Amino acid sequence: MGIRKIETGITGLDIMLQGGFPEGRMILIMGGPGTGKTIFCSQFLHHGATEQGEKSVYISLDETKPHFLEEMLTFGWDFQELEQANLFTFIDASDIRRISEKAEVGRLHVGGTELARARLIDNIFTIADGSGSSSIEKFIGDIGATRVVLDSISGLLFRFPEAWKKRKAILDVMEALSVSGATCLITSEAASIGEERQVQPEEYLSNGAILLQTLRTGDRAVRILKMRGTEIDSTPRPYQIGERGIELHSDQSIFET
Ligand SMILES: Nc1ncnc2c1ncn2[C@@H]1O[C@H](COP(=O)(O)OP(=O)(O)OP(=O)(O)O)[C@@H](O)[C@H]1O
Ligand SMILES: [Mg+2]
Repeated sequence: MGIRKIETGITGLDIMLQGGFPEGRMILIMGGPGTGKTIFCSQFLHHGATEQGEKSVYISLDETKPHFLEEMLTFGWDFQELEQANLFTFIDASDIRRISEKAEVGRLHVGGTELARARLIDNIFTIADGSGSSSIEKFIGDIGATRVVLDSISGLLFRFPEAWKKRKAILDVMEALSVSGATCLITSEAASIGEERQVQPEEYLSNGAILLQTLRTGDRAVRILKMRGTEIDSTPRPYQIGERGIELHSDQSIFET
């Protein structure tokens, strides 16, 4: 019957995707600041945990854990509770923007957990730098996570001004994550808004890409740019961020003026 689908947690989007994301694939969630990328990814993980009992890992290169937990609680999503139930693991790598050299990451060690965290973050760098084998997939595998989020890849790529190095880093990180077999969402800052948008290398390299946009009118629109292995609705559809997260209207369309 073809590729298995997993529900995104956003009802309208599941309709657009004919059931959800193709299982075990790498999907890019692109958008400008404040378009809802972090909320989108969290909704995906929360849905998996509460509706399907799926375990997940959130690798955050942007937000700290306390900030994340507090923000998600405003939608009624209690990730601390999921963590206690062994359904959720948050890897706080938010300090990497302040760390310029890989070597310094290894010095983050304080206690056992800190050391494990530093090693894992260090491993992301090692993969991105194109050296060494990956322990990320082992980490994800040991946990038994089937949903993984990396938020955001832009936080990792600022270190690579050269296009070919950037491309290789993206490819290596994606490969390491995809070996785990989990369905992975990677967020990425869109280079610009509107039709002038510059296509990012990560967009070519992923299995699927979804663009979140805030239009000039202030309306929000979601567009599925690609999704290998499945039929999609590529019409831009309106969405809102409300009390219960992202709500998408798959039966409405949006036209830019
Ligand atoms: N409780 C809420 N109710 C309604 N809208 C909210 C709520 N909390 C946040 N928002 C909206 O969501 C946006 C932030 O969403 P999110 O953090 O997911 O964006 P993002 O794309 O990850 O941004 P960044 O690029 O800065 O990481 C805010 O700009 C705000 O408009
Ligand atoms: Mg974010």
